[in-house]
Amino acid sequence: MRTLIKHALAATEPKESLTLKGWIRTRRDSKGFSFLELNDGSCLTSIQVVVDAGTPGYEAIQKFTTGASAVIEGRLVASPGAGQKWEVRAKRIELVGEAEASYPLQKKGHSLEYLRTIAHLRPRSNLFGSVFRVRSRLAYAVHQFFQERDFVYVHTPIITASDCEGAGEMFRVTALKGNIDEKPAADFFGKPTYLTVSGQLEGETFACALSNIYTFGPTFRAENSNTARHAAEFWMIEPEMAFCDLQGDMDLGEEFVKAMARHTLEHCAEDLGLFAKFVDKGVLERLRFVVERPFQRVPYTEAIKILKSTSKAFEYPVEYGLNLQSEHERFLTEDHFKSPVTVFNYPREIKPFYMRLNDDGRTVTAMDVLVPGIGEVIGGSQREERRDQLRENMRFQKLREEDYGWYLDLRRYGTVPHAGFGLGFERLLMFLTGVANIRDVIPFARTPGSAEF
Ligand code: 4AD
Ligand code: MG
Repeated sequence: MRTLIKHALAATEPKESLTLKGWIRTRRDSKGFSFLELNDGSCLTSIQVVVDAGTPGYEAIQKFTTGASAVIEGRLVASPGAGQKWEVRAKRIELVGEAEASYPLQKKGHSLEYLRTIAHLRPRSNLFGSVFRVRSRLAYAVHQFFQERDFVYVHTPIITASDCEGAGEMFRVTALKGNIDEKPAADFFGKPTYLTVSGQLEGETFACALSNIYTFGPTFRAENSNTARHAAEFWMIEPEMAFCDLQGDMDLGEEFVKAMARHTLEHCAEDLGLFAKFVDKGVLERLRFVVERPFQRVPYTEAIKILKSTSKAFEYPVEYGLNLQSEHERFLTEDHFKSPVTVFNYPREIKPFYMRLNDDGRTVTAMDVLVPGIGEVIGGSQREERRDQLRENMRFQKLREEDYGWYLDLRRYGTVPHAGFGLGFERLLMFLTGVANIRDVIPFARTPGSAEF
């Protein structure tokens, strides 16, 4: 039976016999014996293996090179060396797969850019092992958070005919050859279809039946923004709550981000330690701050006033009615409030049709949660539940009613105030780990001009 290295290292007493399987990180030879560092990805730390020259399998020791895979049978004993509690005295070693001398992860300290070009091997580096263990743990925490609160998990479709965000940034899905716009009716689904930019509209139909729901799935956007925080394929979490208004929505969004920070501190301590040492010195302090301190809230109009009154020079203009750019968002959260901040009630012109119109007739119940280092991590709103107003919103945004008949039906049959948001999972990971580029928190990044692997 195989023991994972993480369990071997957490042992409370020595063990007469255990079997480890993993990849060699380094080997050092001394007179009469060798040291191996073995890592199996179950935790950051590698285990030290001492192999005496007479051990069965030692004949092949020269092939136990960096990157090779091996099985080690031995005894777990207290380590005399500093910095490690346990080590393994090998009784038998077996080479499973040799690594050619060209194995690219020989030395420490490769650049992130270089590691992106070997995305198939980078999970074997310390940094990426940590990133992807945390990613997995947080995916689990997302489900735990919502399931504990009685939210129902809904799988919304990936192929869709509607552009939820109305931004026209969709990837076309087609089975046609040649000119795909010539006869859309002849296409596989009988009309133009796309990869989803959001599961929200379908999520709303389930919230208006099961009360509280969430989605967690892949999301696609053909935005041509080559930035450190945009990917063409990313994962989004979208809760939707019936009988809920903007206040309740902001409350849930903030509670969710706090819970994810707390979970990381409690369950990912070893990996966080690596981020604090090599990626972002302030990461632990930031997570504790997020857990302990309340988020700030500010209406959009007020945020514009703050941005206009600062002496800081921005690249993009600040004006009521314009979108907040990343530099503005970061100024608000990093320099002005020095805290995560939720901006709400945006002008209706810059937001999608489904957001609820406020009584002022000018703003909608939008809310964005902004965090230091990233900017927007959550975008959400209360939804327009009044049928006539929703139709007016659709005319305002030049959408065709007949494309949204089913969505309007929710307002015909037992409509309720409801609200929700979308959180970009990769942006959350960037925030919680300090990793600065979205390409480094997703296993295989899809960005403009790049779909390797
Ligand atoms: O603000 P967005 O566009 O909101 C929606 O899609 C709503 N339908 C959500 C809802 O109310 N149910 O996107 C939500 C979040 C953003 O705040 C951001 O974190 C992330 O999705 N996001 C991206 N992440 C990575 N790459 C991209 N290209 C992203 N676009 C949005
Ligand atoms: Mg947004």
